[in-house]
Amino acid sequence: MNNRQIINITQRYVANTYARFPIALVRGKGAWVWDADGKKYLDFVAGIAVNCLGHNHPAVARAIRQQAAKLLHVSNLYHIAPQSELARELCRHSFAQRVFFCNSGAEANEAALKLARRYGAEWHGGKYEVLSTHNSFHGRTLATLTATGQEKVRAGYDPLPAGFRQVPFSDLGAMAEAIDEKTTVAILVEPIQGEGGVVVPNKNYLQGLRELCDEKEILLIFDEVQSGMGRTGKLFAYEHYGVEPDIMTLAKALGGGLPLGAMLAKEKVARSFVPGAHASTFGGNPLACSVGAAVLKTLLQGGVLKNCVQMGRVLFDGLQALKKKFGFIREIRGQGLIWGMELEHDGGKIVEDCLSAGLLINCTAHKVLRFIPPLVIGKKEIAEGLAILEDVLARQ
Ligand SMILES: Cc1ncc(COP(=O)(O)O)c(C=O)c1O
Repeated sequence: MNNRQIINITQRYVANTYARFPIALVRGKGAWVWDADGKKYLDFVAGIAVNCLGHNHPAVARAIRQQAAKLLHVSNLYHIAPQSELARELCRHSFAQRVFFCNSGAEANEAALKLARRYGAEWHGGKYEVLSTHNSFHGRTLATLTATGQEKVRAGYDPLPAGFRQVPFSDLGAMAEAIDEKTTVAILVEPIQGEGGVVVPNKNYLQGLRELCDEKEILLIFDEVQSGMGRTGKLFAYEHYGVEPDIMTLAKALGGGLPLGAMLAKEKVARSFVPGAHASTFGGNPLACSVGAAVLKTLLQGGVLKNCVQMGRVLFDGLQALKKKFGFIREIRGQGLIWGMELEHDGGKIVEDCLSAGLLINCTAHKVLRFIPPLVIGKKEIAEGLAILEDVLARQ
């Protein structure tokens, strides 16, 4: 089938929830993907920060083959070897002592919100409210869209669950003021806002939140669904700030392309989850977890984090150079291999022109071009991507 045929069938049968570009990607290798008409693209989207090891990585393909030949799925009625191994490794390399597995970022956040409520009910006299931030993105379930600080995500879904409020991001004073000592049980933030336009908080924001949470006996939840698993050059973004959360959520890159999410927590909080408190049929599935373990091992042992830092600098330098050249670029911000280029105007046309020229990027928050290539990308590919982008920007 070619692009047109696939698009026709999609438009006829698939729920109309996505505004899609008019191509169907059918094959990938490293930082490159091909569409059904055979056209090649440099992939600076990576499945929106999912394909951390690029496409068709041998460690991922091997883990899939080996596990598929052994056992694809069993219920959480039984112990699952790849699940216990991945949980142990995630705990070894993070602040956490317990992991709950699920299948997506929204589910990981849903688990975090449910755990916070049970913790509040059990230890803090029924405190239940979660404070999050404007422009945040936490998912599309009813609870996670209510925690999300974007009106457009919530529109049409009233009545929303009670117990959520948002304050401006990177504003410690606003957060401190919003805390209700009788009801607030947790603060939920992304260490770097991804969907909100690649917004990096002030230097002391996360530390300040930690201090605030300690003082008020409130849980600190980091949503690292987008920033985690090496994206910022460290395994988890919180490591840059010298603070630890009480709960952290992961998904996207965790499965290297397979649906896998996780909620990690300190023991003092995690113990509020007891048998029957929460569950997921597919959560911690043998196939997804064996791939997750291979992804984690490759990130930690394969020089990938170092590459992310080095290539991140190359990409940042290139984007800064473009900023100097084109007056309509307002700001470049990010860390590691997540960068945003804020424009003076809507970025939709630039994204379309890049796609026509063979470069996949996307636009968040209307005006912010986002660059989130695979963490294994090389210098030559970054140079190629920047050259395409420069050409497109020059034509605007
Ligand atoms: C920070 C953050 N949290 C949660 C989510 C939701 O993840 P999912 O789409 O896997 O449910 C996203 C998705 O973009 C995200 O960026």
